[in-house]
Amino acid sequence: MPIEVVVHGALGRMGREVVTALCKDTQLKPVGAVDSKAEGKSLPLPDRADSIPLSSNLEGLLAQTVPQVLVDFSIAEAAMNTVRLAAKQRVNLVIGTTGLSADDLSEIDRLARANEVGAIVAPNFALGAVIMIHLAKVAARYFDYAEIIEMHHEQKLDAPSGTALSTARAMAEARGKPFLHSEAQKESLGGTRGGELQGISLHSVRLPGLMAHQEIIFGTSGQTLTVRHDTINRECYMPGVVLAIKKVIELKGLTYGLDNLLGL
Ligand SMILES: NC(=O)c1ccc[n+]([C@@H]2O[C@H](COP(=O)([O-])OP(=O)(O)OC[C@H]3O[C@@H](n4cnc5c(N)ncnc54)[C@H](O)[C@@H]3O)[C@@H](O)[C@H]2O)c1
Repeated sequence: MPIEVVVHGALGRMGREVVTALCKDTQLKPVGAVDSKAEGKSLPLPDRADSIPLSSNLEGLLAQTVPQVLVDFSIAEAAMNTVRLAAKQRVNLVIGTTGLSADDLSEIDRLARANEVGAIVAPNFALGAVIMIHLAKVAARYFDYAEIIEMHHEQKLDAPSGTALSTARAMAEARGKPFLHSEAQKESLGGTRGGELQGISLHSVRLPGLMAHQEIIFGTSGQTLTVRHDTINRECYMPGVVLAIKKVIELKGLTYGLDNLLGL
């Protein structure tokens, strides 16, 4: 029997991608869609002739469809209410919405345990990005110098990216001390050595034509090692989301981060 899934935030960019991914996997089945922008009562499915119930009322839709898993890609302000309603109805949770606090994560764990369901929260569902950070942590123990170049589309608001910051922190933690950092003796144009974190220079490129890319260059005597990850569209998150849906039904309580599902 396929795992029955409701998508919260189903009319958003990620939500639509999740509905499409569910339709492509024979072990999964979309059974309902929730979005505050919902108009009408059904959402046509991309690759199937039928449609699924659509509503702005999560509680009502969960009661109507009784899914095993709820996938949430909405907004942080809505996520905790979603968790409370779904856990109460004993629905397992896969949450990709970013911006949850440490208190939110503790509450998710407590609610999931109390209702004997699993909850997976991952700030990054792109498998390649998670494996890139893992490989960078391995290399960090053997190289004294490292720099990160992250490249994103020109509309990205923040710099550096959250992934670049968490990569740098993970590398320094794996190494147990800051990296060596080469200071320019004369910086004739300010900022050209990038921002510095734990001895690692971070450089942010913003250009139309890019999606999300990151390169970590390690250096030591006579050699460099480069670890690089490129994404070309939001499909990059779907293998991670699909994996989480299949795993969460076997779990109890909170699992944080895709790395913990991959056994890294
Ligand atoms: N974990 C990851 O790998 C990952 C990857 C990409 C995006 N994200 C996160 O996923 C979230 C969604 O991103 P997006 O690009 O799809 O955004 P989006 O704005 O395109 O979609 C969000 C959807 O949620 C709906 N929504 C808002 N408030 C709601 C509420 N109270 N109840 C029900 N639906 C509500 C909106 O109507 C919209 O359709 C963001 O938090 C983003 O940071 C996570």
